[in-house]
Amino acid sequence: MAAQNVGAPPSVEAVKEVAKDGQVVDPYNVSGAKDKDGNLMAIDYEKLRQQFGTQALTDEHLQRFERVTGKAPHRLLRRKLFFSHRDFDQILDHYEKYGFFLLYTGRGPSSGSMHLGHAIPFLFTKELQDIFDVPLVIMLTDDEKFYFTRNKAAAEAGGKKKFDSNVGDFINYAYGNCKDIIALGFDKQKTFIYSDYEYMGGHFYQNVTEFESLVTNSQVRGAFGWQDSTNIGLNAFSAKQCVAAFATSYPVLFGDDDHRSPHYAQLRPTQRVADIPTLIPCAIDQEPHFRIMRDCCSRMQFKSPKPALVLSKFLTALQGAGGKMSASDSSSAIFMSDTAREIEKKIKKYAFSGGGVDRETHERDGGNPDVDVACIYLSYFLESDEELEAITTSYRKGTLSTGEVKKRCILELQKFVAAFQERRAAVTDTLMREYMTPRKLEFKGNPNPTAPAGAAEEGVATEDNNADDAGEKSGRGTKGERKAAKLAAKKLAHREKKEGGAEAKEDVSTPAQQ
Ligand code: TRP
Repeated sequence: MAAQNVGAPPSVEAVKEVAKDGQVVDPYNVSGAKDKDGNLMAIDYEKLRQQFGTQALTDEHLQRFERVTGKAPHRLLRRKLFFSHRDFDQILDHYEKYGFFLLYTGRGPSSGSMHLGHAIPFLFTKELQDIFDVPLVIMLTDDEKFYFTRNKAAAEAGGKKKFDSNVGDFINYAYGNCKDIIALGFDKQKTFIYSDYEYMGGHFYQNVTEFESLVTNSQVRGAFGWQDSTNIGLNAFSAKQCVAAFATSYPVLFGDDDHRSPHYAQLRPTQRVADIPTLIPCAIDQEPHFRIMRDCCSRMQFKSPKPALVLSKFLTALQGAGGKMSASDSSSAIFMSDTAREIEKKIKKYAFSGGGVDRETHERDGGNPDVDVACIYLSYFLESDEELEAITTSYRKGTLSTGEVKKRCILELQKFVAAFQERRAAVTDTLMREYMTPRKLEFKGNPNPTAPAGAAEEGVATEDNNADDAGEKSGRGTKGERKAAKLAAKKLAHREKKEGGAEAKEDVSTPAQQ
């Protein structure tokens, strides 16, 4: 897709083109292309990146990350498993100048326990939260998974709708997943986790309706492949996932009031909160949502900056390249609830080997660590760069056997999962509720922001990345655009201040206040 189209969702034609060529990646489908014999091929990430029009994460980004934070980047970033981005530079600029941003990620709870693939974006997000010391929201899209499961069931039943799962099942999955996520170690002081079924309302839902009014059916069809027969809930769902990136969906976390029970103290959000920019770490299949979002965020009444993205590859299925781990196929995935014995069995039995057909060939020709699933998993979970390098080199040479690599991989995964399970066992319902309660978050951010104190109150969105597509390359827009936008934001903020005051006064008369 042409570079100037980065802000817009792909057209229906563009999506068809992808399908024809075999590789399909969107939030609801991930599959590599098939070769002429029908074998699944590895996902071509470079091609995907170009199709989506996202930028490559480069060594310069890694160096800059280290300069800004004083910390070495996470192994997932060092190894370019997070390989692409939008506006990562802008978010670092913002952090340097103004001191903080909002981190946002999520999870569609489709089963009670998460697998290793689900854990990847969270591991990375946790590290970002620790390093930047910033607030984080985690959306559990129990509603999305409900719509999706029903849609699939309806399609499979060919019109005779017989559903065997209900709303309550997905809420329960959300709770299970919430506990899993907590066990990955997020700091409670700065983390809000929510189920859509519980939290939707107030300013969040105001954002949802406003956003829904900005997006057409043909846009979501193009981005997600929806059809006439798709249920209307799924058709509209993306709006929820998008506006979840607006800080205004969570006024309470930033010390503002909301418009919901029991107080109804503040009818609409403030520009101060709308100006907080967001960074979204996620797997690249989620990108189509946020492409739509970036297209629309300057059209909201309370304009927010375009969210920045850091995008990862998928954790390969045990069977090898071309697919990702799937919760509905237990032989494709290692679950965070698997026992040490199960992990061992799955790796030994299913993990695709890049080794030679027999020992002799392997020792003579060497193996291919790039397609070897045990080597790939080690690249995600083994912390030591030196050891990883030694393993891949000797595997390539053939001096390390498939059995030995699998053994090393089993050990590393068992270690990771055992430590996780120990923390998971300690997560109580009470602790889960604490994470799930909207409350003012405590975070310090950058201890030495360079902008003068108070500058962050002044429509920072406009300066950092609310440029329209013409300015997308630099991400900053032209000087004139920035000036005009800044002025507009100031006016808005001023108007908001006046209106906010009036509304607050009206609202104190609600029964809940008396
Ligand atoms: N749709 C995602 C899923 O199915 C869940 C999700 C919601 C998400 N918001 C997100 C993922 C933001 C990444 C970033 O898993």
